[in-house]
Amino acid sequence: MRVVVLTGAGISAESGLRTFRDSGGLWEGHDPMQVATHEAYDADPDLVQRFYDERRAALLRAEPNAAHVALARLEEHLGDDLHLVTQNIDDLHERGGSRQVHHMHGRLRAAWCVACDRRHDWDGTLVDRPACPACGVRALRPDVVWFGEVPYDMETVQQALFDCDLFVSIGTSGLVYPAAAFVHFAIGNGADTLELDLDPPRVSDFATSIAGPATQTVPRWVDSLLSD
Ligand code: APR
Repeated sequence: MRVVVLTGAGISAESGLRTFRDSGGLWEGHDPMQVATHEAYDADPDLVQRFYDERRAALLRAEPNAAHVALARLEEHLGDDLHLVTQNIDDLHERGGSRQVHHMHGRLRAAWCVACDRRHDWDGTLVDRPACPACGVRALRPDVVWFGEVPYDMETVQQALFDCDLFVSIGTSGLVYPAAAFVHFAIGNGADTLELDLDPPRVSDFATSIAGPATQTVPRWVDSLLSD
């Protein structure tokens, strides 16, 4: 069975990382247009760098949860028949054991040098304008896809959606494109669709919606899929 799984901030909520649109979410304290666009970065680079420096520090204190671990177990059984696509910039899928993760919105623990275009794993701060390890220029930005920029791996993801038998969305509000359109591509190719969310919308595009915290619903779903 070919499966595409899309995850959002909800899968990392129980690891202590804030979501965006839930109460107390990141967009409550920040206007996304002030911290997650290229224009915002050009206007006030320190504000944007500090926003991501703070999240990078919080991520280093977080641990993967049972939902991340369950998806790694699914990958062990499905191998290349599983495509795990995440909107999250945290690395909890990898720390939970997943080896192949499409980070369509980039990675918080990485820096992108806009002078030489190289990317580097990065756990420190960027607001202090460190030099690029490769070219020495002080031109490192977070390797994160901002609103208005092109997400990563979209051709591979698009093909996986057209080929899959099952599309599963976990912990995302489905409000941001192109991820919000994935379910329609999957339905268009005749795939079955499943949504796992703490509080799924009453009217849903998905054939099946299961409500509950990801640390309970995801392991249960993986167990049921692997026992079929
Ligand atoms: N278990 C399962 N789902 C949860 C949990 C939980 N413990 N806690 C919250 N959720 C669900 C919420 O019900 C909601 O549907 O996670 C979703 C979080 O939605 P958002 O905060 O909008 O996060 P996300 O969908 O990932 O945002 C998508 O928007 O701002 C951009 O780039 C940013 O990648 C992000 C994108």
